[in-house]
Amino acid sequence: MITDLLKEAEEFIRTCYRELNKTEQEVEHRLNELNEQIRNKGFYEHTNLELEYGAKMAWRNSNRCIGRLFWDQLNVIDKRNLKTEEEIIEALFEHIEYATNKGRIRPTITIFSQKASNQKVRIWNNQLIRYAGYKTEHGVLGDPHSISFTETCIDLGWEPKFGNFDVLPLVVQINDHHPKVAQIPEKLLLEVPIRHPNYKWFNDLNLKWYAVPMISDMILEIGGITYTAAPFNGWYMGTEIGARNFADESRYNMLPQIGKLMGLDIKSNISLWKDRALLELNTAVLHSFKEDGVSIVDHHTAAQQFKKFEEKERASERSITGDWTWLIPPLSPAATHIFHKPYNNDIKKPNYFYQPNPY
Ligand code: ARG
Repeated sequence: MITDLLKEAEEFIRTCYRELNKTEQEVEHRLNELNEQIRNKGFYEHTNLELEYGAKMAWRNSNRCIGRLFWDQLNVIDKRNLKTEEEIIEALFEHIEYATNKGRIRPTITIFSQKASNQKVRIWNNQLIRYAGYKTEHGVLGDPHSISFTETCIDLGWEPKFGNFDVLPLVVQINDHHPKVAQIPEKLLLEVPIRHPNYKWFNDLNLKWYAVPMISDMILEIGGITYTAAPFNGWYMGTEIGARNFADESRYNMLPQIGKLMGLDIKSNISLWKDRALLELNTAVLHSFKEDGVSIVDHHTAAQQFKKFEEKERASERSITGDWTWLIPPLSPAATHIFHKPYNNDIKKPNYFYQPNPY
């Protein structure tokens, strides 16, 4: 255990300090310090610089992310000192406001205290802002992805509203205490009503989506240290919303309605109605976000940015890893360079990892 931690810590410190142009002396000094901390207490604490750079490296190493060109522009907010659920919820509100930035989205991570034998912080939400999903007699309302978490919130006392876009409350837990539930203040929520540049009827679908995807259920691992609560965000790539959240049959499943409203023959596969509906839905998502001044990237631009990332990594003499199955966009994948080459899916650390749901 301790030897594993020492090894992971040393590896991280060496890479991190080399990239930050620290001297060999500084490395040795820090390694001694950390050795002592680990031997005495069984763990060590990152300096602000290590935390910040480690979180950035973790983004750089995220094989499934096409947006990694911007890894070193991550805003890192250090909230390791917070002790209560109330303080943590307040910090989550601050994260939402800072990251949203009235639409000029800032890639941001807020890091809470590291896991220890007597201490564990968990955010139960999958993303800080997500829409509830309800199983009813008349089918599913809202986002089917959220059904089980929504039931958990209701069990914890949250009042369901049975709409299609009900923002779920924050649920925060420290150790095995009863989790705290908090509604996100209305004024912190930025949402984009989805309309189409040419089809007036698109409004009648009453679609909207929230501005900022803030993943809140993953572990951040840096140099053998685990942060179980470290919500982070970038901005959306249009297809995440237009080709998945609204389009998947197991999500909002909007393609049949859109196909019909476009006057397409949705009985015939060779009419390519799904492809046509997908295209217009994605056009609408990009158009609406752009018009509202909310950061978003289309998949062609995102792929070009990823190419630049690959080039920069090569120039820095780092090997690039990636998960092809996630990197290709769900719309017109072969129109991007990513489709046409293999990627090495080895896992490098620091990184973000899944952890089991606490509910
Ligand atoms: N795909 C997820 C969603 O649709 C968000 C994942 C993170 N995406 C991002 N652009 N940073 O909500």
